[in-house]
Amino acid sequence: MTLIKWQASFSLGIPSVDHEHRELIGAINTVYDSMINNADPAIIESCLEDIYADVSSHFALEERHMREAGYGEYEAHKEEHEELLDQIRNMMDLFEENPDSGRIILQQELSDWFSVHFSTFDARLHDKLGDHH
Ligand SMILES: [Fe+2]
Ligand SMILES: [Fe+2]
Repeated sequence: MTLIKWQASFSLGIPSVDHEHRELIGAINTVYDSMINNADPAIIESCLEDIYADVSSHFALEERHMREAGYGEYEAHKEEHEELLDQIRNMMDLFEENPDSGRIILQQELSDWFSVHFSTFDARLHDKLGDHH
């Protein structure tokens, strides 16, 4: 099952950033599938660790683009990134403590956790930094 489908609004017009957006969506969909199919919690945990690492480096890339462009919303966008990393870390901790209830929370929250940032903060970044051809 596909949790998050790619949407044009997820594209910033910066190829390296867009490539990572696609990869992150793929990774989230994969871990979601493993949860639905009751995969071994250790496998899910290691997928989540990979996602956490990829998201951290993705945020760093975006922040670099923002700084280079002197983007006005940099501080707020960076704060939101930090908030998102805290949120996923909390979900991962919950899952580690109790895979059964953690799984339910992840299944409910992962899609929003991801898509809301893409369609708000990242979309505004697109308006400023993306190519508009
Ligand atoms: Fe992003
Ligand atoms: Fe972002």
